[in-house]
Amino acid sequence: MIIAIDGPAAAGKGTLARRLAEKFNFAYLDTGALYRAVGLTLLKQGIDPTDTKAAEAASTDLDLGLLDDSDLRAEATGGAASKVAAMPAVRANLLDFQKNFAKRPPEGKAGAVLDGRDIGTVVCPDADLKLFVTASPEVRAERRRLEMEGRGQRADFDAILADVRARDERDMGRKDAPLKPAEDALLLDTSNLDIDAVFLRAVALVQERLKPQ
Ligand code: CDP
Ligand code: CDP
Repeated sequence: MIIAIDGPAAAGKGTLARRLAEKFNFAYLDTGALYRAVGLTLLKQGIDPTDTKAAEAASTDLDLGLLDDSDLRAEATGGAASKVAAMPAVRANLLDFQKNFAKRPPEGKAGAVLDGRDIGTVVCPDADLKLFVTASPEVRAERRRLEMEGRGQRADFDAILADVRARDERDMGRKDAPLKPAEDALLLDTSNLDIDAVFLRAVALVQERLKPQ
């Protein structure tokens, strides 16, 4: 079974995907982390993230060590990720890994959950369940602010909101695999839902699909 979770920044995709994977013994892939690793490679080298050649090179020979880097989750890394993610060659370089993960999850796992922007539309168009998780930009910016505060980082709501909006625009506006719900995706607006409420809804949807027909 394959579950595709897409949606904009800080909608709660990762939290939901992780909890579903744990509950149903599925493997989990955070595909945004791959784009973040490419973006972070350039930032660390002082290269502008709009440099197509450098981004292509970084995505061809992805430094997987960066997936554990403490800067991976920074909003600046998210911004750089959304710039390299608009480049067709970078997307193409990362696509096979994601498709293979979904088709052949690690041993002992009963399925796979992937979260990102184009899982339901491009990476796993045949997924058994597609969720498009959203929330208003203000709610998402506040979630990010709380996260940063929790890590002891300085967090200005207006600056975070501006970053979230800029990233939404880049992700929805690009030509290649833009952020949009797949036609057969179920929309889940989490603006007024806490994590447990979202999780319970999603669990019910997965269980429906696991029932023998
Ligand atoms: O993966 P994505 O960027 O979509 O979001 P996330 O990292 O799962 O969630 C961002 C933050 O929002 C986390 O701190 C979650 O705990 C929080 N969250 C929330 O407060 N309410 C939800 N319904 C979902 C997530
Ligand atoms: O956690 P958050 O929602 O803030 O972002 P992320 O999922 O870590 O993704 C970072 C950036 O990578 C996004 O803003 C997208 O530009 C890009 N991305 C993408 O283009 N396609 C994906 N499947 C996943 C991420």
